[in-house]
Amino acid sequence: MKAIILAGGKGTRLYPMTTVFSKQLQPIYDKPMIYYPLSTLMLLGIRDFCLISTPEDTPHFARLLGDGTNWGIQIEYRVQQHPGGLAQAFLVAEDWIAGDACGLILGDNLFYGKMNLFASALENFTQGAVIYGYPVSDPSSYGVLRFSSDGAPVDIEEKPENPPSNIAVPGLYFYDAQVVSLCKQLRPSPRGELEITDLNRSYLQMGQLRVGMLGRGVTWLDTGTPDSLLEAAEFVRIMEHRQGLKIGCPEEAALRMGFIRTKEAIDLCHSLPNGSYRSYLQRVLTEHETGRWDAS
Ligand code: TTP
Repeated sequence: MKAIILAGGKGTRLYPMTTVFSKQLQPIYDKPMIYYPLSTLMLLGIRDFCLISTPEDTPHFARLLGDGTNWGIQIEYRVQQHPGGLAQAFLVAEDWIAGDACGLILGDNLFYGKMNLFASALENFTQGAVIYGYPVSDPSSYGVLRFSSDGAPVDIEEKPENPPSNIAVPGLYFYDAQVVSLCKQLRPSPRGELEITDLNRSYLQMGQLRVGMLGRGVTWLDTGTPDSLLEAAEFVRIMEHRQGLKIGCPEEAALRMGFIRTKEAIDLCHSLPNGSYRSYLQRVLTEHETGRWDAS
């Protein structure tokens, strides 16, 4: 599986913080925001990435993340000239997708929890699409699932005034090889965007949409407003302080997933500046080498 990380957009709700640097380069506590969705996908076993951002910001991401070699992954970059909607990502990256199945994660979404809860929805995924459902207290801000009386998903409504349920669709999606041709058939919504909800509806109408329900045990935060950004930072800080384990650390994910060997991880560690991030990785490495490290 390969995946797109979508990190463009306007970030208007975070103005003036986004005047110079994009939203997904802002810090969430101790790391740039983009580290979190990248690490989530690495922990799902994905190694092949295409990062899409604006003409101004794509070079910043390339400087921050490079080509991924250090982390045992590949990252390519594509530019979205104008924010034409989430589903436009598949058109921007059409050459990179090259007829394969492809995932998409939003660069401002933070997921935390047991990865097998995400992975189980992907079991035997060969055809169609996999999205997730997550209960939220404010569904009107999201794509929201409507269910039939027997609990089957029958529709998805984008930012509904009267939400048909409290189950929102988070920014993590997986599609089969039909995705590019289906996106080409989409028409812009009244707000002028190719909507991911319309793409998901296409799969739903073909009877090919699977919804993996994420409940307690998984945290999903988005970070598009000053309040949600601060809440995400507080969440990461609390968890990291309590457990002594970092969230959203690509180096650790690379080691944990076997994308890099211990020797490569040691070299990587030595290349980092002295500080708490490097100390953490050194500790992870020591625990890994002495077998005290629990890879679960
Ligand atoms: P949004 O949060 O919906 O939009 P935004 O980031 O432009 O922020 P604001 O509403 O404050 O102006 O976007 C969700 C994610 O998708 C975010 O990571 C930005 C990204 N995105 C793109 O990369 N291209 C796009 O065309 C759009 C609409 C969003």
